[in-house]
Amino acid sequence: MPEPTPTPADLEARVRARPLPRHVAIIMDGNGRWAEARGLPRVAGHREGAEAVRAVTRAARRLGIEALTLYAFSLQNWDRPADEVEALMLLLVDFLESERAEMMENGIRLHAIGDLARLPPPVRARLDAVMGATAANRGMVLTLALSYGGREELVQAARAAAARGGEIDAAAIEAGLWTRGLPELDLLVRTSGELRISNFLLWQAAYAELLFTPVLWPDFRDAALLQALADFQGRERRFGLTRAQLEARSDRE
Ligand code: FPP
Repeated sequence: MPEPTPTPADLEARVRARPLPRHVAIIMDGNGRWAEARGLPRVAGHREGAEAVRAVTRAARRLGIEALTLYAFSLQNWDRPADEVEALMLLLVDFLESERAEMMENGIRLHAIGDLARLPPPVRARLDAVMGATAANRGMVLTLALSYGGREELVQAARAAAARGGEIDAAAIEAGLWTRGLPELDLLVRTSGELRISNFLLWQAAYAELLFTPVLWPDFRDAALLQALADFQGRERRFGLTRAQLEARSDRE
């Protein structure tokens, strides 16, 4: 007989009983399709997507995830129609204003990665204000990837390493990444059924577990996050080693 579907409370208890990923990143995809399926304009999908951002941030913090990184706007997204770009920037401003108090209450530190100089000044100003206000918080770091591209991040990291001089090795590249200081990426989720990583965290994803779910981002709430975490907890991570080596290592610990 198939196992009965666990209730949300059971699933949460199971997830809490096992080691959580320290760093989860999400490619939030499917807002447009969510809206189109309802005969709504695309921006309605982004609005609901912003609600999912709020819910998932809250749930991740409650569960004790150390770092949550969300792909909110790629460098390539600048080429979308101007009204859609503007709507996304307004949603971002709204998010920064409405969530500031909650981030403070819950010890969330806001961080941003990407070519932030390209953001419109009002967005940049609010982003800087919330990052400044939350800088000393230690509960969870919420990183928004804004105007972000993984190749572009690597190019600037390589340039910075070359400018510093000395050997250009993995440590030198890491030192120039926008994600420096964050825990290693453990789990990379993409919603909406697309099987790509679309220039997101190319270096950081080297040993991350990848999870692709058909759920559209606006529908991705607590239950979907718990499912993703439970799936992660069922994986065997070998980091290039054999299972026997891993077992010998955990016997020694
Ligand atoms: C991809 O869906 C989503 C985006 C390009 C933007 C993500 C933005 C949000 C979730 C809301 C605002 C963000 C914050 C942090 C408040 P898509 O439009 O490519 O969907 P489609 O592939 O179905 O067209």
